[in-house]
Amino acid sequence: MPGSKPHPTLTTDRLILRPLTIADAAPMRALLNDVDIARMVSRIPHPYGLDDAHAYLAHLQSADPSCERVFAVQSDKDGLMGVVGLDPRDDGAVELGYWLGKPFWGRGYMTEAACAVLQWASGAWGRRFLVSRHFADNPASGRVLTKAGFLYTGEVRRSCSLARREPVSSRMMVWLA
Ligand SMILES: CC(C)(COP(=O)(O)OP(=O)(O)OC[C@H]1O[C@@H](n2cnc3c(N)ncnc32)[C@H](O)[C@@H]1OP(=O)(O)O)[C@@H](O)C(=O)NCCC(=O)NCCS
Repeated sequence: MPGSKPHPTLTTDRLILRPLTIADAAPMRALLNDVDIARMVSRIPHPYGLDDAHAYLAHLQSADPSCERVFAVQSDKDGLMGVVGLDPRDDGAVELGYWLGKPFWGRGYMTEAACAVLQWASGAWGRRFLVSRHFADNPASGRVLTKAGFLYTGEVRRSCSLARREPVSSRMMVWLA
């Protein structure tokens, strides 16, 4: 059963992917209170306060581990750098999502993190099929997803963006183990 497995810590060449804890609230808030991140994701408000971080981290404590797993992305040198997670969607599919603090963009970190999470998801977590999406004006995320093995379905949906306060065109993708 996927849900019965403990939340693992994964390591890559440069990164440690570990469970988030309440101690991540302050560094998370410091990185995430950035409109350039918030406007590219669905459910991160802007401005992003410490209360928002605490509410999210509290939610994770009670999340169903059979369909929701979220990892802090960190390095020994930089501490918390971002988050990569797998969340349940309304239709039952599990969706990959992520963000990285701006100081760490453009060095291949999120591709490295996403690939490690996908490898774990298809192995110990037993997933054969995952979905993702990116806003049409976010080609960097499209590159991360294609480098990690996701394929475009061709479908474009309107998705919410809390930070933009309006629906945004999203390009839908799938990944098969
Ligand atoms: C998207 C995000 C996670 C990328 O993280 P990252 O560690 O910089 O990503 P990587 O370095 O692994 O890969 C980025 C790729 O996008 C490419 N890229 C960057 N900006 C681009 C642009 N404007 N147009 C096209 N490609 C772009 C890079 O060249 C790289 O591809 P390459 O390896 O083929 O050269 C990071 O920018 C981020 O957190 N953005 C805000 C939140 C977000 O968008 N989350 C995803 C929501 S779907």
